[in-house]
Amino acid sequence: MRHKSIIEPFRVKMVEPINMTTETERRAYLKKAHHNLFMLHSKEVIIDLLTDSGTSAMSANQWAGIMKGDESYAGATSWDKMYAEINDLTGLNYILPTHQGRAAERILYSHLGGTGKIFISNTHFDTTRANIEFSGAEAIDIPIEQANNPANLHPFKGNMDIERLEHIITKNGAANIGAVILTLTNNSGGGQPVSLQNAREVSEICKKHQVLFVLDCCRIAENAYFIKHREEGVEDKTYREIAQEVFTLCDGAIMSAKKDAIVNMGGFLALKDEELANACTNLLIITEGYTTYGGLSGRDMEAITVGLQEVFRADYLHYRIRSTTYLGEKLQEMGVPVLLPIGGHAVYIDARAFYPLIPVNEYPGQVLACELYLKGGIRSCEIGSVMFGKYDENHQLISSAMDLVRLAIPRRVYTQSHIDYVIETFSFLMDDRNKHNGFKIDYEPELLRHFTCRFSEAKPT
Ligand code: F0G
Repeated sequence: MRHKSIIEPFRVKMVEPINMTTETERRAYLKKAHHNLFMLHSKEVIIDLLTDSGTSAMSANQWAGIMKGDESYAGATSWDKMYAEINDLTGLNYILPTHQGRAAERILYSHLGGTGKIFISNTHFDTTRANIEFSGAEAIDIPIEQANNPANLHPFKGNMDIERLEHIITKNGAANIGAVILTLTNNSGGGQPVSLQNAREVSEICKKHQVLFVLDCCRIAENAYFIKHREEGVEDKTYREIAQEVFTLCDGAIMSAKKDAIVNMGGFLALKDEELANACTNLLIITEGYTTYGGLSGRDMEAITVGLQEVFRADYLHYRIRSTTYLGEKLQEMGVPVLLPIGGHAVYIDARAFYPLIPVNEYPGQVLACELYLKGGIRSCEIGSVMFGKYDENHQLISSAMDLVRLAIPRRVYTQSHIDYVIETFSFLMDDRNKHNGFKIDYEPELLRHFTCRFSEAKPT
């Protein structure tokens, strides 16, 4: 007999109380935060789906590892273990520990970048793009065409457009390409997976033109799950073996360990080429730390080592992907326009379709994120024209391809009843979709504006 219910493959040993709030209280908190959910205090939030990054629950084994952390400045045992784990997983020999993903990005892309250089990705994550543009280089996104249609059911919507890749390299000259970056799963494109086949094709083109091929592998285990269940020819491989095969295709990898290494802080840069690794090591030492700890404590490195093993377990990955799908499917049944197929770490709502009366330049995604907070104390994240919008010369908004709201699920943190509460909150919002007052931005910084910009109602009531 096979059960239909999918249970969390863990028991809870320690609990963290949630501060319950009322809608009236939340209205005041939101006003104080200028309608920017990044500016809320966590105690003002009931269910925090802002990000799956650094918000996961560690296991008893990871906490046990914390006690064994070797805090020696040089040559710590904890580093030896972390190195061995990452080396076995990636097959890459030069590994630089960093305090999080973007530190690895800054090191590699400031070295490879600069004015005139071009970086190509399925979709650059916001910190990836910012690091590249900050160096003076240009970042070009070339997801496959199907990726921009939220209703399209392509099984690997994270794939890169191979024809455009070849075209951009040929047109600009291989020497001007800083790197080709494949992000798996494709976070900014809806958490959609990349197929092994697509990774192979990208790798072949990069080899042919002698262009550096980098994986942004922070959700590599979740991506491996989708490969195993959606692609032919890998049925007999374990999730870890599939990930290992993906790594054989690249020249380097950047990982924010705050995702699929199930830790609260950490990251690394792994490289094949010694000369490139030496140049990056110099930058590592200047800003992150010595080569055997980077920006990490010994205890962080212990937790990463254990997390990288746990994340590939079949029962964990099955629970992880199925529980995200549960949320997505229930919302879809209610008529909420969700990005399909449901991704690995998050459910993305198509905010333009949810609020058809709100013009794109009044940020429908931000309206949905704020309504979710007001009605349920749920914090989500706008991934759309607030995050990626730019202005033309007349200061008119150039919107992003889609206006999404991401409900990112921290790993091993919330139970099914928490998720049912989120679903119920959406039912309240569905009754109130004729809202058509959006937001305008009153203040914004030059880079990564979504973190600190301030909103007010576009047409005050
Ligand atoms: N690459 C991808 C695909 C990411 O999703 C992130 C972070 C990074 C790089 C940067 O890593 O935060 O450790 O510096 N994503 C988080 C998110 C912040 O909410 O999706 P970091």
